[in-house]
Amino acid sequence: MQSMSELESRGTHLESFLRFPKDFLWGVSTAAHQVEGNNCNQWTDWEQAGRIKSGDACGRACDWWENPERDFDIARDIGLKALRLSLEWSRIEPEENRFDQKALQRYRQMLEGLRERGIEPIVCLHHFTHPRWFEKTGAFLRPEAPQLFERFAREVANGVGDLCRFWVTFNEPNVYAACGYVLGEFPPGRKGELFNALRVNSMQAQAHVLAYGAIHQLVPEAQVGWAQHYVVFEPAGGIVDRWVATRLDRLFNHVFFELIEDGRLSFPFNLWNGRVRDAKGCCDFVGLNVYSRFHVALDLRQPSTLFTRLYVPEHVPQGDPGVENPYGEAYPQAITRAVKRAARLGKPIYIMENGVPDAADRIRPWLIVNALRELHRLIECGHDIRGYLHWTLTDNFEWNEGWRLRFGLVELDPATQQRTLRSSARLFSEIIRDNGLAVATRNEEPLLSKAIP
Ligand code: BGC
Repeated sequence: MQSMSELESRGTHLESFLRFPKDFLWGVSTAAHQVEGNNCNQWTDWEQAGRIKSGDACGRACDWWENPERDFDIARDIGLKALRLSLEWSRIEPEENRFDQKALQRYRQMLEGLRERGIEPIVCLHHFTHPRWFEKTGAFLRPEAPQLFERFAREVANGVGDLCRFWVTFNEPNVYAACGYVLGEFPPGRKGELFNALRVNSMQAQAHVLAYGAIHQLVPEAQVGWAQHYVVFEPAGGIVDRWVATRLDRLFNHVFFELIEDGRLSFPFNLWNGRVRDAKGCCDFVGLNVYSRFHVALDLRQPSTLFTRLYVPEHVPQGDPGVENPYGEAYPQAITRAVKRAARLGKPIYIMENGVPDAADRIRPWLIVNALRELHRLIECGHDIRGYLHWTLTDNFEWNEGWRLRFGLVELDPATQQRTLRSSARLFSEIIRDNGLAVATRNEEPLLSKAIP
């Protein structure tokens, strides 16, 4: 009888089957601006100002405003149990305090369309975009922003609440604040405004609390949470880099967690931002969006990135690079770190996004298998993880990168709207069918070469 390690050392990969809990929610996530086409929000202005690095136009995107059913059919055929979509605030409230019932009706059709196909809709209320009037009047720095968001949430819950059980108030408040107010990568394009970024996050936490209350009032059985982006910051070297990495980790990964966990920020950030009343424990689940690891080093020449240099070493698994920067190391173990952080809130956890930009689908299957391997191990250790949503179904408009980065299980030609299934779609479909996957006991190496030069 040979031992497992003997077999493995001779290159024989033993297989074991990782079974997921009954009713595990397998799905995908999407966002209105990235899939609907022809929106009129602050990102439309950003694009018109020439700020999309690839120079691409969002155009019809995946044409969902006209024909979401084409992709819903694909989602059903893959076997998806859940689909997260965002409801575009700028369509529903195009002018301040004027609500468009036709837009809400259109969203009702979409949610019904998903339900008819046996797919659980998960509604997100803010996925980076909002109406122009909101942006022009200060967005989340406007003192009444929480109440304005609550009014919008109430209108939506009134309009579609009977069709939806799962609600995400905010997608990635940390990315929104960091990219919009510190890095200048998203509208409003401000740089180095750390305190405004913290203020934006406190305002969003207040908005989250009010929306949570409004949704529960109208849809008592609703499950309401938010989706937190989590990045692993790996110190490049010694003590200074470790200090820098810890600062970044705290600012980027922990601020919003702290607001919901304790209802306030801890020192020194509490000097600028007071308590967020009633935020403590205000969520029914935590959503996690997990993609990458970055290496971090002190760099005194870079004040706009808080004196840090983020980089991805050669020879680590990674997808296609963006126009100016690498997207990040594809790092399935990030899921474990994120789950351990989220578990401190004591609520059920859903992986709400995980994926990789990979037009040739050379690394995505590896990522899916290894992310699920991490998840399964965490579940076995007793973590209450209830679902995995892949980012994303069909290639869509990737913010500043336009059409350059392709995250879809399904390839899209935006000009012809032609769809082609990638092998990852077939792999994911089999995993859902079997509610689990057979894995080699040894981790397979991914293909490391970069596809896009
Ligand atoms: C965002 C998505 C985005 C994805 C890939 C996430 O941070 O929520 O909108 O497309 O990452 O970059």
